[in-house]
Amino acid sequence: MQKLIINGGNRLNGEITVQGAKNAVLPILAASILCKGDIMLHNCPRLSDLYSAMRILSSLGCSAGFDGGSTLCVNTDGLSSCDIPDRLMREMRSSIFFLGALVGRTGDCRISLPGGCDIGQRPIDIHISALRKMGVTVTEQHGEIECRCEKKLKGAKISLSFPSVGATENIILAAVLAEGRTEITNAAREPEIIWLADFLNLCGADIKGAGGGTITINGKKELHGCEFTIMPDRIAAATYLACTACTGGEIILKECNPRHLDSVLSVFEQLGCNVGCTENMICFGAKYPLHSIDIIRTMVYPGFPTDCQAFVMSAACIAQGTTVFVENIFENRYRHAEELRRMGANIRAEGKVAVVEGVKKLYGAKVSAPDLRGGAGLVAAALCAEGTTEISGLNYIDRGYEEIENVLASVGADIKRI
Ligand code: UD1
Repeated sequence: MQKLIINGGNRLNGEITVQGAKNAVLPILAASILCKGDIMLHNCPRLSDLYSAMRILSSLGCSAGFDGGSTLCVNTDGLSSCDIPDRLMREMRSSIFFLGALVGRTGDCRISLPGGCDIGQRPIDIHISALRKMGVTVTEQHGEIECRCEKKLKGAKISLSFPSVGATENIILAAVLAEGRTEITNAAREPEIIWLADFLNLCGADIKGAGGGTITINGKKELHGCEFTIMPDRIAAATYLACTACTGGEIILKECNPRHLDSVLSVFEQLGCNVGCTENMICFGAKYPLHSIDIIRTMVYPGFPTDCQAFVMSAACIAQGTTVFVENIFENRYRHAEELRRMGANIRAEGKVAVVEGVKKLYGAKVSAPDLRGGAGLVAAALCAEGTTEISGLNYIDRGYEEIENVLASVGADIKRI
């Protein structure tokens, strides 16, 4: 079993180039099923979730491989199956994107329920009811989902009961080759949705309004391949800022998009950090002691992201005063709090609310990453803790961070993987 060994106390100083976005590349890989010809995706992060998506593509008869660098070459002309084996579906939550893409291309798909981090129930009812509106017959039995549509999928007016990111993306995937016009209202506005739409539009789709609450898609007969660059990962960027906030120091994040991080940067400023931005760079300085923040509520974009809650909580653990978190998106997303308590944090979490009383110091301990972002929170805490922290559960952290130990060591952290 691999572990991260972190000796806390080093300030972080230097430059980090932000990786490509996990949450953008995964739906785009599923979208490649809808396109004929070669696709070249630049700036792809080497993450275990991305390798899972590549295994799904290969099990369907498609090809996907790195060119040696960060460019992924994909071709789905050889698609020969519409069944995704259970073991591959369970590897990650984003396997669900293949549902919309496969049904969109072939009108046929058999999958089981997706796996992923245990941060709540994560149902897919919104995805399924949208597909039904588009003429797909969906049968759910014993954790298996079968989708069939004898003729072409039909465009429909779909109003989401909640602006689900995954459902918005899945509907776009199902709609780009459907007959007629689809309109999604109360759509999610996350930047990754804009990137998915930009990719598909470059391949010949007609999607308007991505990034806003109403998205319209006019179905096309076919899509072609293209060359496309994946956006920077806003959550990874925020993670490295949290690590710097916890340790003190100054860091420059290169090749990131500060406009995607407005709500997060404002929270770091309230913690007492200095933030300066250019078009694609963030200059960040952390000063001790950090200040507590009255209340941090997770919200859909452009609100404060649930994916940043865990590692910002690590910074709040050593801030002066009390910070209250309200988690509005997932119902089971405070599992890192228990691990942080082993490191000396003073956190009471119940239901949606966690109350964090800042302490002077955290201490090294043996802890286990409970999920991807919770694991990142433990890394941030370990970097400022007195003594040595051993973090297990790296399979979660590796889902979303490309060589996290090398990135942090390059800016001065004492961290290694054993
Ligand atoms: C995506 C992100 C994830 C992020 C989350 C919220 C990807 C690959 N993952 O996940 O990192 O934490 O957005 O910003 O992009 N819901 C339902 N029924 C559904 C779908 C969702 O009730 O059919 C609920 C979920 O249980 C959750 C909320 O809606 O409580 C938000 O989920 P959603 O926006 O769909 O998140 P994901 O797409 O799974």
